Amino acid sequence: MNVLASGRHDAAQHSTDIDTFSRIARIAERGRIDALFLADGPAGLVEESFTRPWRALEPVSLLSPLSQQTGHIGLVATTSTLFGHPYVAARQIATLDHISKRRAAWNIITSQTPVALAAYGLESRFGQDERYVRADEFARIVTGLWSSVPQSAIVADPGRNLFVDETVTRPIDVQGIHFRSRGNLSAPVGPQGRPVIFHSGQSDDSKAFGARWADALFTGQRTLAGAQKFYSDVKALARANGRNPDHLLVMPGLFRILGGSEEEARGRKDDPDARLDIDFPHHELAHHFALSPDDLPLVGVLPSI
Ligand SMILES: Cc1cc2nc3c(=O)[nH]c(=O)nc-3n(C[C@H](O)[C@H](O)[C@H](O)COP(=O)(O)O)c2cc1C
Repeated sequence: MNVLASGRHDAAQHSTDIDTFSRIARIAERGRIDALFLADGPAGLVEESFTRPWRALEPVSLLSPLSQQTGHIGLVATTSTLFGHPYVAARQIATLDHISKRRAAWNIITSQTPVALAAYGLESRFGQDERYVRADEFARIVTGLWSSVPQSAIVADPGRNLFVDETVTRPIDVQGIHFRSRGNLSAPVGPQGRPVIFHSGQSDDSKAFGARWADALFTGQRTLAGAQKFYSDVKALARANGRNPDHLLVMPGLFRILGGSEEEARGRKDDPDARLDIDFPHHELAHHFALSPDDLPLVGVLPSI
């Protein structure tokens, strides 16, 4: 189903309606989908928010009740490495991992928008290098905190008046340019080890970052050749980092339209296609070319920049 128009399909669907999300989670689990992946924007109402259902709810909070209504589907929460502190993200995801019985995953994004910068009181954009230095420090702190209280440190022995054995903890001490953190996470990570890490991005910096930290990369590829290059690049980077490249999965985004027959599926696509509001993709396209939509006619030759 066309994602831009599909939000208009069901009048009852609403960005803040927990029943809608519960229904999606249960159907996905029944359909044997591996994981429910909640994308997120760093902050505020952006252009798309005004014209269609948007990412209103914070993913970790939203996945928490869904974890109690499902039994085995993975729960992937997107959080930004530009805004907020890594300690908070580490604790939230570790908590989700416990309450979901080890089904939590963290999707790392590095995006910035003028709306998010304004919301967090920041005056200037982060440069490309700076975004990934920041993301690197963020990931170092989160993963360090996740291993700071190993299961073996939990003694829980009232006889000795000892619950956590401090000598077995592994406090971190990260003094970065952007983030600093010392000490332990309050939540131990479960016996299975740290939650799964996803990363979503496209650039060379993103590939290098993902090959260092992620278990899976979410990517949008538009051509077969581009997709093959992305795949071989990140596998080579993982190998160069001393990792087994098979442990870094590449998960390209797909929009599927399902139906009992080809005809039914096509019919399901026609309906949202007919309702498609072209303004939003037009603005997006113009934004990618650093143009105003008025300077980018949809019919005719692309202007040279
Ligand atoms: C497949 C994919 C999914 C993404 N999902 C999100 C998202 O949910 N929220 C967000 O704010 N940014 C998202 N991003 C944006 C990235 O985090 C990043 O800002 C963007 O790719 C530009 O950085 P890059 O040029 O280093 O790749 C996504 C990017 C890709 C490629």
